[in-house]
Amino acid sequence: MLVLGIETSCDETSIAIASGERQILSNIVVSSLHLHKRYGGIVPEIACRHHTELINFVLDKALKRAKTSLNDIDAISVTQGPGLIGALLVGISLAKALSYSLKIPIIPLNHLHGHLYAATINEREVKFPSIGLIVSGGHTSLVDIKDIGNLKLLGQTRDDACGEAFDKVAKILGLGFPGGPIIEKQAKGGNCEKIEFPRSYLSKDTLDFSFSGIKTAVLYFVESLKRKGQRLPVADICASFQKAVFDMLLNKTRACCQNRGAKSLLIGGGVSANRSLRKRLEDLSSDLGIDILFPPKGMSLDNAAMIAGLGCYMYKREKFGDYSFTAQANLNL
Ligand code: KG4
Ligand code: ZN
Repeated sequence: MLVLGIETSCDETSIAIASGERQILSNIVVSSLHLHKRYGGIVPEIACRHHTELINFVLDKALKRAKTSLNDIDAISVTQGPGLIGALLVGISLAKALSYSLKIPIIPLNHLHGHLYAATINEREVKFPSIGLIVSGGHTSLVDIKDIGNLKLLGQTRDDACGEAFDKVAKILGLGFPGGPIIEKQAKGGNCEKIEFPRSYLSKDTLDFSFSGIKTAVLYFVESLKRKGQRLPVADICASFQKAVFDMLLNKTRACCQNRGAKSLLIGGGVSANRSLRKRLEDLSSDLGIDILFPPKGMSLDNAAMIAGLGCYMYKREKFGDYSFTAQANLNL
């Protein structure tokens, strides 16, 4: 069995080939991030052009790296959404063209399912009940994992996503884009107890999050120091901000796992690359006595390996799509 997975939901043009749910033969990721940096965020038009220009090159490279050819591929899996509509359409158009011309099944997939699937790639089994935490640039969600590819939303952010808050705070501090890795690096040299930024826990009976308050608190703090002509303690701001955000994430994740009697916790999305978050989640899981599963190195950020691996899982269960599906920017879980 060989499944070719295509992921073009944001700035990464990525194609991977899997020979089984956990056997990734190739995973080529080419990002257009360097082209967006000067604008301080992702510019959809630039991302789409980049996908169009590079997708054939990425396809060739993925096939070569896997030492295979299109004639040996059994199915095509592709990200249907959520994501940038034009960007998604580039991947979906290629997927439909390949599926039609090679006469092989097409498997449309949800990007968020892919992010959580990435956490299972190195593991043999997921113990149920299982909870998923998705922390990316567009989403912050807690989900009940009924089965692989069958998720029920339990809580989500009411405003900014967790990664988005990192990106916005980095912008306020003039540190560049994307903010997550830069803030993590700065935070290492700072004191996380130095500034008491507000945590928003909403009410006790909700598993929702809110990150817009802390972003505004950082903005006001920075503006007031600037007005007084004082030097910005950048590392302390980053460390204190990061700790506050992770306090909020940990608080709801703990409550969710306890309420549901979880036996495992799966983490996915770009923010899961953060070492400090991983350490705190590891501590939480050992405290609760449950398994914790993270994406392997290089699979926290957007990539097609998670789409090819999940594609294999669906292929075995014959969960195929037809050509009537199209890109959905706001595709739900
Ligand atoms: O999952 P992802 O690659 O794309 C989306 O589906 O959104 O996540 C990108 C997000 C960005 O907001 C980025 O700042 C954040 O993940 N991120 C991080 C780190 N690396 C990436 N946030 C915190 N710490 C990191 N090390
Ligand atoms: Zn993503």
